Parts: sequence; structure tokens; C-alpha cells
Amino acid sequence: MSSDKKEVDCGRRNLVFATAAVGGVATVATAVPFLASMSPSERAKAAGAPVEADISNLSPGEMMRIEWRGKPVWIIRRTKEMLESLGKINDRLSDPASKRPMQPEYAKNEARSIKPEYLVVVGICTHLGCSPTDKFKTGAESGINADWPGGFLCPCHGSLFDLAGRVYKSMPAPDNLEVPPHYYLSDTRILIGEDKA
Ligand code: FES
Repeated sequence: MSSDKKEVDCGRRNLVFATAAVGGVATVATAVPFLASMSPSERAKAAGAPVEADISNLSPGEMMRIEWRGKPVWIIRRTKEMLESLGKINDRLSDPASKRPMQPEYAKNEARSIKPEYLVVVGICTHLGCSPTDKFKTGAESGINADWPGGFLCPCHGSLFDLAGRVYKSMPAPDNLEVPPHYYLSDTRILIGEDKA
């Protein structure tokens, strides 16, 4: 990498941190009076208690977003075609079987999920913390490349993830997207933030 390129990357990184710091201050400043007006159970929830997601209205191919501990959590209901695409690109991925220690046991499979149909993942890039964009359209229509099978693109430095949140090889992001602790309360309700006892 040239020194010019390094400077550009460092500048971007500093900008990301500066933006994050400003955002953090603003969040704290507004959160204090907000928290004071909450009931004890609401305060516990805001501080990191598990949150429940109702997936009964999620159609195949759709994604919903919820917030847990101030982080975006995505739930994607994958179609049969989306699931079939996962097995075809393992050789292009950095950690296809999710063997790195940061992954929970139930993410150590190709679909990275308890139920293959549903992916539950934290929507924060493992590089510098930007939020990737969903790119579910396949092929050239995606604007990524002609054999794109669908997945996510992080706009900050171009990291690509597949439809299981697995990072492609040689990307700025070092790891797959994080799978948060979670379990199914029923067929249509997921508790995010806790493993089943
Ligand atoms: S934050 Fe750098 S690629 Fe996502």
C-alpha cells in the first residue's frame, strides 16, 4: 500500500472515531433525562436486558431490525434459494465454518443459525464498526459483481459478507458478523441477549 493510500485510510479511520465519539457524547447527554423518566423495568431494558422479537410478520426474503444494547440486530428470513447459495461460496470466505472462538456454538455451521431459515446477527462491521447495507439482489443487478449471490456490503471500506454474515477473504473486516446470544421462545418469538438456560 502506498503512503498516500495509508494517509487516506488513517484519515477515514480518525473520522469514524471522531464521529463515533461525538455520537457517544450526544447519546449520553440525551439519555440521562430520558432514563430518569423510565420505570425500573424500562431502565433495565435500556441498560442491556434481553429484548424479544416477534417474527410472525417476517416474510421469506425479508429482514427486520431491532435494537439490543444500543446495537442494531438484524433478523433475516432466508428463502430456499438464499440458503442454497451459502454452500456454493465457502472457498471465497475467510472463516466459512465460523470456527473462530468469538462465535457461539450455534453459529458454528454454514447457516450460522439455530434454525437455518432465520439468521440473527449484529449489524455492525467487524472492521471499524460501520453498519453494512443489505444487498439481497443477486448478480449484476446488485451493482457488486455478476456472480454476487446476495449478502451485505459495508460502505465504509468495502467489506463483503454473505447471507450468513460470513466475511469474504481479503477484506478489511477480520471476522464474520457477530451472532448475539439468543433463543426461540416459540416459533414466532426470539429472545435476543440471552442463551437458553
Ligand atoms: S468499517 Fe471498514 S469495512 Fe466496515
